Amino acid sequence: MRSAKDFFRPLAVGAPEPVREVPQRPSRMIHFFDPSNPKMVAKLPDMAGKADVLLGNLEDAISADRKEEARAGLVEVARTVDLGDTQLWTRINSLDSPWVLDDLITLVTEVGDRLDVIMVPKVEGAEDIHYVDRLLAQLEARAGLTRPLLVHAILETARGVASVEEICTASPRMQGLSLGPADLAADRRMKTTRVGGGHPGYLVRTDPVDGDVEGPRTTAQQDLWHYTIARMVDACRAAGILPYYGPFGDIADTVACEDQFRNAYLLGCVGTWTLHPVQIDIARRVFSPDPTDVAWAVRVIDAMGDGTGAVMLDGKMQDDATVKQCRVLVDLARSLAERDADLAAAYGL
Ligand code: GLV
Ligand code: MG
Repeated sequence: MRSAKDFFRPLAVGAPEPVREVPQRPSRMIHFFDPSNPKMVAKLPDMAGKADVLLGNLEDAISADRKEEARAGLVEVARTVDLGDTQLWTRINSLDSPWVLDDLITLVTEVGDRLDVIMVPKVEGAEDIHYVDRLLAQLEARAGLTRPLLVHAILETARGVASVEEICTASPRMQGLSLGPADLAADRRMKTTRVGGGHPGYLVRTDPVDGDVEGPRTTAQQDLWHYTIARMVDACRAAGILPYYGPFGDIADTVACEDQFRNAYLLGCVGTWTLHPVQIDIARRVFSPDPTDVAWAVRVIDAMGDGTGAVMLDGKMQDDATVKQCRVLVDLARSLAERDADLAAAYGL
């Protein structure tokens, strides 16, 4: 095992020093675009005003015959499109694919200074992160980069979920994890055919009345993703990195999309992927704290003074633990308000 003392040393001569903390920049929505699609690329300056993160996708959804165009398109975007404050990420091809080596070599050496985070799909264990970690250090050294690239892993295989803690702590580059419900469903051999969200067949039912099994009985749909998201949040939080929900494929069902995003938000995720502009507005609404909740949190913090002891507010007991929850909300609200005048006005912060 590597010594803790070596953990923050560069893995190649001339590579930049690893970061000690994940930079805390808003990343409520990671908006995917296809860099080989000129129509999508033309919309990027406009999208940059709306999304916290724009991600040039090179992996699934880009057909094999467009992989190279997508890679070249992303280099062009990174060089020529002014995205302002918006971060630029990429999702590279999987580590067993014929494209990934060129993805990394090209992107890091040509536009490494313009990229913030590299999303790695189908990560199975710490060994995948170690491979990317060393290769990135070598390429950063070759490119003369002064800021290390960060790595984001997608949790989308059963082994990845079983190894989630070691993935999160595999490198100081680790920025976060996203749930990949579509690949995870396939890998787990779940019997769904969807990209994220619920399934009407996954439910619980009340007991029959008077033995009438066919009679009316209340059912409640259950959440297929609860276990994995909760596990991912704990693993990320324990490692000081950030958890995200992934894709919601039913673009027309904006209501269920909002539910899925909100479940992830309430459980501790900081953001989500967005696959269509309509989902950007949903993500902004969901992953920015509600102004009423922020106002309540400010009241609790004010009422709790130095944060110790207990007080009653509107019949509800407040103590050290509630004031900590309230600080999470207010800190998030403040950091978002710094960059968003509408939110600053809504929060009155
Ligand atoms: C995302 O990549 C997924 O497989 O859900
Ligand atoms: Mg996937």
